Amino acid sequence: MRIAIGSDHGGFRLKKEIIQHLKDKGIEYTDLGTYDEKSVDYPDFGRAVGEAVASGKFERGIVICGTGIGISIAANKVPGIRAALCGDCFSAKASREHNDANVLALGERVIGTELAKMIVDIWLDTKFAGGRHKNRVDKLNNMW
Ligand code: RB5
Repeated sequence: MRIAIGSDHGGFRLKKEIIQHLKDKGIEYTDLGTYDEKSVDYPDFGRAVGEAVASGKFERGIVICGTGIGISIAANKVPGIRAALCGDCFSAKASREHNDANVLALGERVIGTELAKMIVDIWLDTKFAGGRHKNRVDKLNNMW
């Protein structure tokens, strides 16, 4: 699975930890920035990851900012993106099973590194359940 990952300065340190975690697991990724802790604007990176996933070049995306909120809003503005901000394992699993989320958003200032890694693992490993959820996701996809 190919992952596009991006963050603003508020998510930079957690992104480094998640990248190391992906490397340890042998998962392919591309880091779309930001590349240091200098202040930047989260919409640029949420958009970059959203567009990378929507283009089909990457199957999934991970976006990180201080809260995960701004960057998830940005990613969700890209047609075809279903970004889910997750701060717990149950939501991570449900966002895949029910919503077929193709972007995971995390908040560096909200959750710890170990929980974030656990959320990433669950989110990457869980399949969309289809069935009754398919019609609902189709409706999301047809909203624009
Ligand atoms: C940056 O200070 C912060 O606003 C950003 O990382 C994020 O939390 C926005 O939603």
